[in-house]
Amino acid sequence: MNAMVLFFCTIIPLGDNMIKIDKSFFDIRTDRKNTNSVKYDMKPKRNAPENLIPMWVADMDFKVPPQVEEELVNAARHGIFGYSYTDEEYDSLVVSWYKTRFGWDIKPEWILKTPGVMFAIGSTIRALTDKNDSILIFEPVYYPFARITLGNNRNLVVSNLKLENHRYVIDFQDFEDKVARHKVKLLLLCSPHNPVGRVWTKEELLEIARICLKYGVVIVSDEIHSDFVYKGYRHIPIASLSEEISNSTITCTSPSKTFNIAGLQVSNIVIDNLDLRRKVWKACLQTGYSSLNTMAICATKAAYKHGHLWLDKLMDYLEDNVCLTQNVLGKKRDIALIRPEATYLVWLDLRNMNLDKDGLDAFFVDTLGLWLSNGSIFGESGTGFMRMDIATQKSILEEALHRIDMAVH
Ligand SMILES: Cc1ncc(COP(=O)(O)O)c(C=O)c1O
Repeated sequence: MNAMVLFFCTIIPLGDNMIKIDKSFFDIRTDRKNTNSVKYDMKPKRNAPENLIPMWVADMDFKVPPQVEEELVNAARHGIFGYSYTDEEYDSLVVSWYKTRFGWDIKPEWILKTPGVMFAIGSTIRALTDKNDSILIFEPVYYPFARITLGNNRNLVVSNLKLENHRYVIDFQDFEDKVARHKVKLLLLCSPHNPVGRVWTKEELLEIARICLKYGVVIVSDEIHSDFVYKGYRHIPIASLSEEISNSTITCTSPSKTFNIAGLQVSNIVIDNLDLRRKVWKACLQTGYSSLNTMAICATKAAYKHGHLWLDKLMDYLEDNVCLTQNVLGKKRDIALIRPEATYLVWLDLRNMNLDKDGLDAFFVDTLGLWLSNGSIFGESGTGFMRMDIATQKSILEEALHRIDMAVH
């Protein structure tokens, strides 16, 4: 494509305005304070300085694609917010997003719409397991996996990932031993993995599936971060690998991370197997839930219809941010950066600093004015690590990196 054509492709006509989607779009700062933002309006449990930069919870400081904003404004101006439902167009947009971006064929009737991935995982746990049944997770991992397992009185089985040459891998021997020993019923897989940023390869996914099929373990694959994969890597939905795997997998997808609409609470749960789908849906209905809210439906349709270009440009921006972070922190003797293959979350190995959990929080929040997620919340094996959300304007990231650069040897 020549430069002239490319230039026009990045211009979006909206009403009387022309909006350019390139790196400058993501450079625009929007004041998020006083918007009931978890990231900006909540305070860490410490004496946070005035100039605190929040880099903890996984949401982005970027505006949604302009067409999504416009559709939401139009919906708000309509002024009536009665009960809503998802129509055929909604399903076909979800189907076509996964076909276009991952070559994955799903059928409209496989999709359950739920108000969030964790809502769906909780319902799945209640639908497919009984009290004290075992559920396995690979730690360090998104901490609500452990919380929801224990909160539903299930037995939590942890298989720790192994850190080899700055890259995390699954300890398959340990995984299989624990599946067999604890008669594991469900695997909560995070793919790509938050917080360690791995994109599981086809070989790894096949091995996970082999073990799960052998022992009758249902795979719950949380693929909420699947749109954030960097150059050189490819996300493979585990259910796309074979009919047999598809038949025993529940895939949790969502536009919420991708398009920064987590506050609208939407996810699309893909279940090929009719029996599993019926059971999970029954557990969803038992909570009193029935349908997505109007704004979530509106934003999801607009995002999956118009969001491809915006997402491609966003990935270029995030890739630059990852490189910037690596350039600054990669030189530090006391910091080992685990370069993410996916996600906008950078996992920092700070064990050389010899600080305990509270010491790390105190150093980052009180001394540097940076609010990161403490690695210990993602499991024992995350102790000594911090997770940093870099989905922010370059100028903010530069300031954060400068503070670390000045303070850490
Ligand atoms: C792996 C993973 N799953 C689920 C969620 C939350 O999803 P939801 O808000 O749809 O429950 C997050 C949010 O950070 C996440 O990282």
